[in-house]
Amino acid sequence: MSNESIPQLTAYDAAALDHAFAAVLQSVTAQSAQIGSAEDRERFRLEWLGRKQGRLKTLSETWLKAAPPEAKKAIGQRFNALKEQIEQALESGVPAAKAAGAVDAIDITLPGTLPGTGAEHPLIRTLHEVVGIFERMGYSVGVGPEVETDYYNFESLNFPPNHPARDTQDTLVVAGQQGKPLRERLLMRTHTSPVQIRTMEQQPPPLRIVIPGKVHRNDAADATHSPIFHQVEGLCVDTNITFSDLKGTLDHAMKELFGSSVKTRFFPSFFPLTEPSADVQISCIFCGGKGCRKCKHSGWIELLGCGMVDPAVFGFVREKQPAYDPKKISGFAFGMGIDRIAMMRYGIGDISLLYSGDVRFLEQFA
Ligand code: DAH
Repeated sequence: MSNESIPQLTAYDAAALDHAFAAVLQSVTAQSAQIGSAEDRERFRLEWLGRKQGRLKTLSETWLKAAPPEAKKAIGQRFNALKEQIEQALESGVPAAKAAGAVDAIDITLPGTLPGTGAEHPLIRTLHEVVGIFERMGYSVGVGPEVETDYYNFESLNFPPNHPARDTQDTLVVAGQQGKPLRERLLMRTHTSPVQIRTMEQQPPPLRIVIPGKVHRNDAADATHSPIFHQVEGLCVDTNITFSDLKGTLDHAMKELFGSSVKTRFFPSFFPLTEPSADVQISCIFCGGKGCRKCKHSGWIELLGCGMVDPAVFGFVREKQPAYDPKKISGFAFGMGIDRIAMMRYGIGDISLLYSGDVRFLEQFA
């Protein structure tokens, strides 16, 4: 700042001093109103409060030097007040004009950056829907371990050691367990059925339970197979439970899931844990039963396995829970693959999409 631009005091009465200081403050206010960034702010601070070249310092030196001794006190007080005003302008609060400058920097009228909304994964959503249908029929929900013993995964479900039914459910086994009896050896569960046994061991009949969960099999991955997939298991045990109860329950569940016009039919099948056993088919939801590529022109789609609980299964449970006496009680059970149901519901052609974590796929369900 050159000397020429420093205004000189010509009179020292209070009115003259007030007038001179008001002019300086006006220039402080005008400049602080221009502050729009951190850089502007620093420039403003240096210009006014800089230790060596700051305008406040130059002004006070010039004015005080020229002033008569009796005016120095009044001038000093006014400089102190001015310094505070400059600091305030710098801090923030002060001039309304400055607030206008800040609005330029943070424009509150601009649309904000929206955080992405999370959504339930289509698989989990389907799982919850299926579980919800059974909850509304009075079923409770159970869970069990994914690392399971040979006993719960196979033996207690009437898959004896070396029985060929085990071949359809090959899985990963925990290494180094040759020293243990077979029934204690650990493996990744191949179905949610072991939780049937675990639940019955804990609770006497009557029992109505659904068990959602992740299962593992040694299956080569392709568009319709994944070595990890999901099932919902069901079990109902009480006095006088019949195959009609099974049919009515599953028919209702399929209508809830796919719409009331869906028909079901039960085909004889085999599962070690049930006798008799059946595969449940629903009328094709894509063509309404006329026959199309999706149902291989049969009009029907196979969806789940079920049957009446085999007395041999109750036999295993009775070791711990004697109330499961097949002479007094009976039950039905079922198990369905959730991945396939989710793929049908949402028109997903490749199962691997359910496990890819690809946001472009997932955000379509948000
Ligand atoms: N656990 C069987 C599987 O994964 C499915 C199944 C069939 C479950 C019949 C059941 C049942 O509870 O009764 O292939």
